[in-house]
Amino acid sequence: MKLLAALVVPLVGARVVRLEQTPLVQEHTQSLAPGIGVHFTTSYATAAAKYENGTTVDLVRVEADADYIELMSRWARSWKDFDCEGPVNRLRCELEPIRREARRKLGLPITRDSGTLSKFVKRVRSAIEEELGTSVSTITPVAPQLVGWLNSDFQDALDLAGLASSRLDSNDKPTYWDTNAAFAGLGHGLCESESDFSDCLNEERQMPYEHVLFLDFDNSSFSATVQYLQHADQEWSYSNRIDMELGWWNLPVFEVSRARFWAQIHEVILEVAGALQRAPNKIVLLGDHGANAEFLDVVKAAMWDVLEVDVSLMLSANQAKDVGKLVARGAAGFTRRAETWRNWKRTQEDVESIEL
Ligand SMILES: *[C@@H]1O[C@H](CO)[C@@H](O)[C@H](O)[C@H]1NC(C)=O
Ligand SMILES: *[C@@H]1O[C@H](CO)[C@@H](O)[C@H](O)[C@H]1NC(C)=O
Repeated sequence: MKLLAALVVPLVGARVVRLEQTPLVQEHTQSLAPGIGVHFTTSYATAAAKYENGTTVDLVRVEADADYIELMSRWARSWKDFDCEGPVNRLRCELEPIRREARRKLGLPITRDSGTLSKFVKRVRSAIEEELGTSVSTITPVAPQLVGWLNSDFQDALDLAGLASSRLDSNDKPTYWDTNAAFAGLGHGLCESESDFSDCLNEERQMPYEHVLFLDFDNSSFSATVQYLQHADQEWSYSNRIDMELGWWNLPVFEVSRARFWAQIHEVILEVAGALQRAPNKIVLLGDHGANAEFLDVVKAAMWDVLEVDVSLMLSANQAKDVGKLVARGAAGFTRRAETWRNWKRTQEDVESIEL
C-alpha cells in the first residue's frame, strides 16, 4: 500500500483533488448485500447470488420472449452499422446521437432493440427481487460474444430497468463475457484476497497463462471459443464461432438428420480448436446441455481428429450438474472484486487528498 501511495502522489499536482469524504457507514451496509450475477443467454437468463460469507445460491431462471430471441440471433449473425454514405444518410447519421439523447431524456428506449432488451431485463429484475425479497439496484451482467452486440443498447436497457452494472466502468462495457464468468465459476482466475485490491492484482499476476477451450451447448445456440488468459478478467479470444442453428432445440429426432447435426458441431469444433495447435490447458463446458452425453462424445471425437488428444480427463473436470448454472455463479463472484476495486480506488483518492 505504501509503495502504491508513493507512486500515486507525484501525480497529484496535475490532478483535480477531490476533498469530499465518502461516508464509511453507507459503504459497510452496502457490502452486506449479496453480489448478484445474471447470465443473459441467447434465449433465457439465470441469476445467482454470492454472499459475504462465500456462499453462492442459484436464484432464478427467466425465459425470454420471441423478440429477445430474434434480437440475439440477429446480433449473432452480423454487425449492422448505419450506412453513412450520401447526403441523406450522412444527415441521418449526424442526427442519430441527438435523437437518441432526446429519447433518453424522455425516458424512452434509445432504439427498438434497447426497448426489447429492457422489457426482458425488467422481468429478470422482478424475478430476482421476488426471490430475494428485497429490492436490487446493482447486478453483474454477463453475455455471449455476439458480433452485433451493442453495449450502448444494453446499457440503456439497464438504465430503463433501474439497474446499474458492477463492472469496472473503464471502457463503457457493462457486461463481462460469459466464458470468463464460467472460468471464474469453476474457481479459476480470481484472486482469493477480496479485501485488498493490490494484493488481489499481485495474486492474479502470479497465475499461469492458459489456453482454454470453451464449449457452450445451449438451448438455442452452440458456440466454441478459444481464449488465452491468465486471470478471469481478461477478455481476449483468438478463435470463436457461435451458431444459432446448432442449439439443442434444433437437435433432430431422426437418426440421419441427427447424425448430420452432430457432424456440423464436429465441424465447428475442428475449425475453432484448430487454432490451438496443441492440447488446451483446460476445456470448460457451458450451457443447459453442455453435459449432454452425445455431445461429449462428439467433442472427444473432434478433439482427437484435430489435435490427436484424448480429452476425457479434461472434460471430467466439469461437474455435470453445475454446467448450466456455472456462468451466473461466476458472475456473482465478479461482483465483490469490482466492489473491492472501487473501494481501493476511492482510498487512493483519499490518500492523494490527505498527502496534499
Ligand atoms: C451465508 O449467508 C447467507 C445469507 O446471509 C446464509 O443464508 C447462509 O446460510 C450463510 N452460509 C454460511 C455457510 O454461513
Ligand atoms: C429454446 O429455444 C427456442 C428456439 O430459439 C425457443 O423458442 C424456446 O423458448 C427456448 N426454450 C428455453 C427453455 O429456453
